[in-house]
Amino acid sequence: MEKVFIETYGCQMNFADSEVIAAILTKAGYGLCDEIEEADFVLINTCAIRDNAEQRVRHRVRELRALQGRHKGMRIGVLGCMAERLQSRLMAEEDNVSFVCGPDAYRRLPEMLAQVRRQSGECLAAVELSTTETYAEIEPVRLGGNGISAYISIMRGCQNYCAYCVVPYTRGRERSRDPETIVREARTLFEQGYREVTLLGQNVNSYSWGVQGEQGVQDNTVGFPELMARVAEVDPQLRVRFATSHPKDLSDKLLEVMAKYPNICRCIHLPVQSGSDRMLKLMNRKYTVEWYLDRVAAIRRYLPDCSITTDVIAGFSTETLEDHEATLRLFRKVRYDYAYMFKYSLREGTYAWKHLADDIAEEEKTRRLNEIIALQGEIALENNRKEVGKEYEVLVEGESHRSKEQLFGRNSQNKVIVFDRRDAVPGTYRRVRVDSCTAATLLGSLVQ
Ligand code: SAH
Ligand code: SF4
Ligand code: F3S
Repeated sequence: MEKVFIETYGCQMNFADSEVIAAILTKAGYGLCDEIEEADFVLINTCAIRDNAEQRVRHRVRELRALQGRHKGMRIGVLGCMAERLQSRLMAEEDNVSFVCGPDAYRRLPEMLAQVRRQSGECLAAVELSTTETYAEIEPVRLGGNGISAYISIMRGCQNYCAYCVVPYTRGRERSRDPETIVREARTLFEQGYREVTLLGQNVNSYSWGVQGEQGVQDNTVGFPELMARVAEVDPQLRVRFATSHPKDLSDKLLEVMAKYPNICRCIHLPVQSGSDRMLKLMNRKYTVEWYLDRVAAIRRYLPDCSITTDVIAGFSTETLEDHEATLRLFRKVRYDYAYMFKYSLREGTYAWKHLADDIAEEEKTRRLNEIIALQGEIALENNRKEVGKEYEVLVEGESHRSKEQLFGRNSQNKVIVFDRRDAVPGTYRRVRVDSCTAATLLGSLVQ
């Protein structure tokens, strides 16, 4: 039996995809291995979101040459967003890559691997995008997980065309997956002992599954709030999370559903990208700062204990110091619990690449980014200090890195809490009191 080693880069969706890929290949008779040295095929599932993400993969591919020298039969395939973006160009530029396969073509992998073995010499690039593929009925093979939390992909693609973003080009049109298959997957996971699922999509708020009515018109459409309710009803002991919700579409209806089900986690990732209306317009984000703050206020109203996290980009085209200050002001106002912070990276093919100058100097981007990082560090620490003395229900996940005597878990707000092990067991819920904190972690102790 030939063995496959899968390495994953990029977002949660890519990690979910690798589990679909593992399912497709094991069903076709391939084995999975944990040691790359044993692999006949190394599959690298890649990300194209920023240039540094791609450089990392290029570096990795070159590094694998040495290993291929020792294992003559070892073949490398590049999958995912970088494969889709670069297509056969990638094989021309990296001559130890034998095939590329884009995000909608994974069902072709068994045939591609066989073809590589036959060394038929054909051009091995499967990069066609689909308007319907959701891999809905494939039961993912869970890779490297803890057996407690898992991802469920609920939709694919994106057509928001934010000016800076490559995703619409690498992942194609937006399409939703049949809710029945989503609920079934969540139920199976719960029965297997999982206690947390994260529903994934680039903009989960636009999830929509239409049911054909008698006249052929759409009725009984399942939107994201209905889907969340259905998944939450699988079991009160199953935590439900989701990512990512686009601020333009975050509805009160969703917040109402969240408030109704205590097992839907009190944590919303709401990427803002910039605190300046001029930048937001240029980015094609389709909301203003005022709209965004109104959504934040709505979250606080429906879910007073909800944490809010974000993504932000420093140094987008023509960003002035004033625009940058506006971002810092917004951060002070919202007081995020966590933020993913990036320097703008120009991506080929995007609207910005065609029409907007990448005109902020690299050092200035770095300076602005560092300012945001420093501010967010202070805010996160202040937020965490307010947690000291509070008690939370924690889903115990495993041993802490620091010591075998300590376990860690997360509260509903997705904050990590480290505490003394005592009789606690991973995969169960325990009440933990927060005793102290750092900017990244809460330290606590079991109650009872
Ligand atoms: N669909 C999500 C984001 C997915 S990409 C949303 O719309 O919110 C994750 C994050 O990467 C984005 O939120 C953005 O902050 C960042 N990002 C995307 N393209 C980028 C680029 N060209 N340069 C820097 N950061 C980028
Ligand atoms: Fe990219 Fe915008 Fe789509 Fe998010 S919503 S994936 S940032 S185009
Ligand atoms: Fe990267 Fe593709 Fe995800 S570009 S962020 S792996 S959708």
